[in-house]
Amino acid sequence: MLKFMKFSGSRTYLIATSVLCGAMIGVLGGCKKSSVAQNQVNQDDLIHIGEVGSMTGADAGFGISTHQGILLALDEVNTAGGIDGRKLELHTLDDQGKPSEAVLAIKKLITQLNVQAVLGEVASTLSIAMAPIAQQFKVPMISPSSINSKVTEQGDYIFRVCFVDHFQSRVMADFALNFLHAKKAAILRDMKSDYSMDSADLFTEIFRKGGGSILLDQSYSSGDMDFKAQLTAIRAAAPDVILVPGYYTEIGLIARQQKELGMKTPLLGGDGWDSPKLREIGGSALDGSYFVSHFSQNDSSPHIQNFVQKYRIAYGEAPNGLAALGYDSARVLVDSLKRAKQAGNATQTRDEVRDRLRKSIAETRDFQGVTGKISIGPDRNAIKAAVVFKLTDGGKPQMATLVRPD
Ligand code: PHE
Repeated sequence: MLKFMKFSGSRTYLIATSVLCGAMIGVLGGCKKSSVAQNQVNQDDLIHIGEVGSMTGADAGFGISTHQGILLALDEVNTAGGIDGRKLELHTLDDQGKPSEAVLAIKKLITQLNVQAVLGEVASTLSIAMAPIAQQFKVPMISPSSINSKVTEQGDYIFRVCFVDHFQSRVMADFALNFLHAKKAAILRDMKSDYSMDSADLFTEIFRKGGGSILLDQSYSSGDMDFKAQLTAIRAAAPDVILVPGYYTEIGLIARQQKELGMKTPLLGGDGWDSPKLREIGGSALDGSYFVSHFSQNDSSPHIQNFVQKYRIAYGEAPNGLAALGYDSARVLVDSLKRAKQAGNATQTRDEVRDRLRKSIAETRDFQGVTGKISIGPDRNAIKAAVVFKLTDGGKPQMATLVRPD
């Protein structure tokens, strides 16, 4: 079983180095540290990869699930001999869910640890904070799961392997109009999250175009615990559906408080709900609500079931959407590293190596991931299907429908 790491202190420098040096030392065959001059390719025999994630703090669930997926993918490659005999070494830094820490972490990965590419972040606000650094140093960055459009708009070194917010908001608006037959919606958005703010704006635009109206647009700030004032105002407006494009901690509380107020209006959200913690917090108060995400562990396709089984063996639990996207982000990176390697020669500078890797990632087409086929488009986003889940039986997600991009 792959052991997940303990964290000591803040912004701890952790994981794979220690995991690989400890639990999997046989696989890696020793853990050399690299020391390289500024413009040279690392001279050790490892390929260094960085990861920035929220491993502690309110959104720790995001970082942990994603990290487990990434680690599983890289471990598979190392077990199979690495890339042309070179093993992959993952350096994971905890940003505690704070933009300022995410910036420090990516700077450290690039300037001190000399990584070839960075995987992360999950939360769009953090990816938006990190991306300018990756772009400035010309180091490819792949976000597994930040859907906000602004992430990849930061420059040509910034990619993602998930769909974008336009698509998610369209799926949510179409689902509300055509499946729930909702004409009147209320919104409860998180003012501190780019993800939530832009998802709410996009939903408003699309829902109105489809003939719906927004009766009320309320807000909160991540970390809030009491949503009764907003919910009471929403109750008075009597919408058919309440759009809540936030993260699971607040959503769980919102669902419970809504029930306490005697409301039965379905809640509708996005991938920020996709965590086992949602159910722990919200329980049966979530029943009858819906959310859009990336991956269903119940999909019977053999490659998905194969992944689910491997993940269960490694961690003793089923993978959620974040774990699946983490896994896919690492596999797309590995595939790109292999293609970049074939195209290059041994005498390249570090900048040339990273630029070739950037090109290879951009050329990714029809890569079979567990979250769908991944093709990187001209704007460096993946174009993929979304899954809509209904919560039933005490907050258990059941796949309601799959929506393909056109
Ligand atoms: N998509 C969210 C964002 O852009 C992050 C997220 C993805 C959270 C998947 C949970 C699951 O901020």
